[in-house]
Amino acid sequence: MMKVRMIEQRDNGVCLFELKNDEIKVITSNLGCHVLSVFTKDREGNFGDVVLGFENVEDCWHGDGSYMGAIAGRVANRIGDAKFELNGKTYELAANNGKNSLHGGIKGFNQKIFKYKLLEDGIRFIYLSPDMEEGYPGNLYLKVVYRLCDNTLKMEYEAVSDQDTLINITNHSYFNLSAGKDKIYHHQLKVKADEIACVDENCLANGTFLKIENTPFDFKEFHEIGERINDDHEQLKLAGGYDHSFMVKDEEDQLILYDKETGRKLTMTTTLPCIQVYTGNFLSGGCNGKGGKPYENRDGVALEAQFLPNSIHIEKEPKVILRKGEEYEAVTTYRFEVE
Ligand code: BGC
Repeated sequence: MMKVRMIEQRDNGVCLFELKNDEIKVITSNLGCHVLSVFTKDREGNFGDVVLGFENVEDCWHGDGSYMGAIAGRVANRIGDAKFELNGKTYELAANNGKNSLHGGIKGFNQKIFKYKLLEDGIRFIYLSPDMEEGYPGNLYLKVVYRLCDNTLKMEYEAVSDQDTLINITNHSYFNLSAGKDKIYHHQLKVKADEIACVDENCLANGTFLKIENTPFDFKEFHEIGERINDDHEQLKLAGGYDHSFMVKDEEDQLILYDKETGRKLTMTTTLPCIQVYTGNFLSGGCNGKGGKPYENRDGVALEAQFLPNSIHIEKEPKVILRKGEEYEAVTTYRFEVE
């Protein structure tokens, strides 16, 4: 039985919602569309929370750099030198990650209060990002919908702008299928990709690509995340672990994460061309998580479906450009099973 309800409404405009059916329970907020908890069953049928999340969602306002569970945008990941050119005009962004712009700027979509509408099978969040917010042109109308369908959490994104602009929306949830019992080293990962986008010393995609065969990035068959994470590979050293976009095939079920202890298996399908796999290399020292517990590196792995990071500086025809009046649409699903 599907149930959608508001569970808390605070004076500052922040609300919490619960989406629940027999298989999954999600706690989410209209603040940055944060996914705060996702409860799924293990092999024994016990529910456990498989995402990292803030104890108080408002902590995202205090400059925490983890983006746990949030929607990142207008442009997720990094834009080199915090500027870009569009239609012959240069747009300056805030350099909030060294000299680069990260996840939409100083006050990205993760910090915005969205309007909301409860649906029969989920919730719709709406945000109007004004022209030149965080330096991006165009009034952008963004819809984010979270739905539950049996054992699947579905995220739908839609946007339209009244001027040419950039867009790259992702959900920045970190998963831990052991429900916090263990770090993610023993999680097994499989990704349908032959290439990753390489990064520089600031984790900025630099326009080169690595064929992953016979490298620690080859996840065509299952490997534990921890198996090769400390290998002497330049790309692992530069990022302090995995923090790379896998160029996924245009197929279903592009990524599988599996925890053999609990039997939980997460399968991701996206219409987007990349999945950033980020092994929480910089989680330590951030905000406290649920229960007031500080998170540490490798407590979770973020799986972020998106366009190519730094696309505007790399791609001949950058997919991140959203033309005036055109519709941006993307769908990413997360299916939870036990095995
Ligand atoms: C990036 C990481 C960054 C993290 C938190 C990820 O999407 O790839 O480099 O540290 O977000 O901001």
